[in-house]
Amino acid sequence: MHETPVEITVNGHPARHEVEPRLTLADYLREKCGLTGTHLGCEHGACGACTVLLDGQAVRSCLIFAVQVDGQDVTTVEGIAGESGELSPVQAAMRECHGLQCGFCTPGFVTSITALLRDNPSPTDEEIREGLSGNFCRCTGYQGIVNAVKRAAELQGQG
Ligand code: FES
Ligand code: FES
Repeated sequence: MHETPVEITVNGHPARHEVEPRLTLADYLREKCGLTGTHLGCEHGACGACTVLLDGQAVRSCLIFAVQVDGQDVTTVEGIAGESGELSPVQAAMRECHGLQCGFCTPGFVTSITALLRDNPSPTDEEIREGLSGNFCRCTGYQGIVNAVKRAAELQGQG
């Protein structure tokens, strides 16, 4: 099939590949960039496991074609930690508050929470639950995740 060149900045680094127009951004990140932290659950926009930041906005990478994001900036869960690998406040809070069990949903939550707290640094429980309503977790019952968002807000406030 005809391939199209795309240039995307991924986690601060330029990436250039020839891709089929039907390749999703999720598959692009996993297969072309080797960034398998972006998980695929439903592959039709329902579960949030594939969430990445596109020019800072949380998006479902299973619903976007790689060719659509040519020239844009993508941050995956691999790009959330600091340069030297230290956990971001969101990641540290997820660990501290037991916001994960199997971890399958976690990359999507980490990216979604990162965007949520950037837009609303001190959300209420209701705002947290509303903001994360598009991310499914089959393990935790969500309370640990809500606690982690509040703890991350505290940590960011201290930073
Ligand atoms: S894999 Fe994209 S929303 Fe479920
Ligand atoms: S920790 Fe298992 S699905 Fe969320």
